[in-house]
Amino acid sequence: MARDAIRHAPGPGDAQRERVAEALLTSAVGGPRERKHRARFHTLRVAAVRPLTDASIEVTFALPEELRDEFDYLAGQHVALRATLDGHEVRRSYSLCRAADSGGGGDGPRTISVAIKRDAGGRFSTWAQTELHVGDEIDVMSPQGTFTSKLADLDGAHVAGIAAGSGITPLMALAATVLARSDTSRFTLVYTNRSSLDVMFLDELSDLKDRYPTRLALHHVLSREQRTAPLLSGRIDESRLRRILDELVLPDTVDEWFLCGPYELVQLCRDALADRGVDPAHVRYELFTTGEGERAEPAAGRPVVLGADEPVRRIEFSLDGQSQSVDSPVSANETILNAALRVRPDVPFACAGGVCGTCRAHLREGSVTMTENYALEPDELERGYILTCQSHPTTDTVVVDYDV
Ligand SMILES: Cc1cc2nc3c(=O)[nH]c(=O)nc-3n(C[C@H](O)[C@H](O)[C@H](O)COP(=O)(O)OP(=O)(O)OC[C@H]3O[C@@H](n4cnc5c(N)ncnc54)[C@H](O)[C@@H]3O)c2cc1C
Ligand code: FES
Repeated sequence: MARDAIRHAPGPGDAQRERVAEALLTSAVGGPRERKHRARFHTLRVAAVRPLTDASIEVTFALPEELRDEFDYLAGQHVALRATLDGHEVRRSYSLCRAADSGGGGDGPRTISVAIKRDAGGRFSTWAQTELHVGDEIDVMSPQGTFTSKLADLDGAHVAGIAAGSGITPLMALAATVLARSDTSRFTLVYTNRSSLDVMFLDELSDLKDRYPTRLALHHVLSREQRTAPLLSGRIDESRLRRILDELVLPDTVDEWFLCGPYELVQLCRDALADRGVDPAHVRYELFTTGEGERAEPAAGRPVVLGADEPVRRIEFSLDGQSQSVDSPVSANETILNAALRVRPDVPFACAGGVCGTCRAHLREGSVTMTENYALEPDELERGYILTCQSHPTTDTVVVDYDV
């Protein structure tokens, strides 16, 4: 099933979405999405909670032996956490912040860690900051995501990252991994925050610098604090970014770029890199939110009333090798995810907003309209993958497969 079976619906916020979509479309990355196991929740015990800043914590989960293989991950991937808050299920994605093989020993990691920054007024991050304690148990989904290095060989490679705020989390894992995997790799990290008090992983970054003094170049840019170098003091706008690319990280020397932060910064960097002639295939980025404001908690699995003689679309899906089908009234205009959840509550999803990619499935038959896509890369669209949380069937029957 190719991409012409997938249409994007026009709607509010399209200009921004098109920009993101265009950005994604021009950043084709070869290779399949790294999905070792299908996304599935497991209950894990909190082994440690450590404050990073006043507004952020690192949470470490212990992995029982039988789950180590399932939670084996690549630097840059993320997990979804699930909790019931005020009687409502809340799912949020968090990037894994440690090098993928730290504490391993060949049989998968013994722990995994995420870093959660409190979003003012945010439901899950505020709850985690105040209510999550050592010994608590919480549902954690197996690692997902393609914000990972596609370099076949790290020897002599120069990887660069630009992060803002909590966007450092996947870059911590990536920097530590790239530097550890080869004696000749280099990593340049530009990390921007408001002030030094907001810098997550300040000590770990400086430890990393001590460990790799010549191979890690670390530049903290503070927007509301004066640093000795004027270039590192102030917001990263177009002109400051231009100078950073002239003086601190020369695009010609970089093999792969990782951008993680607010939409505006990611887009600014992408534009600047394109202006410098950087091949978009070497630039990967991850958005934590679409920047479109308030999040409506997804109504995934909401009940749908099927009237007699009402026209329906038939949705057939396979998950864990089991095929099921569900009829969806045309008038309900529901997503494939919503319909599937009505008959199979363990269908994978996290954000239900087109951002995290957890609900990805392969469209085998029929066609869909996809409202948002901030997660799938161009090659995945080409190969017929869809975000089921955003896909509405446009043919009488659609067949999707969650297992590939
Ligand atoms: C792939 C991926 C990886 C991620 N990795 C990380 C990570 O490593 N670390 C990290 O900290 N985050 C990460 N995130 C973001 C994270 O998933 C959450 O989105 C974030 O923690 C906020 O969740 P929340 O429930 O606290 O906020 P939400 O409740 O979702 O609120 C988000 C924002 O909307 C505002 N808002 C909510 N309700 C209203 C309302 N009624 N009126 C007005 N405004 C409102 C809140 O004030 C807040 O600013 C990641 C996201 C993705 C998709
Ligand atoms: S559940 Fe996050 S993209 Fe669909």
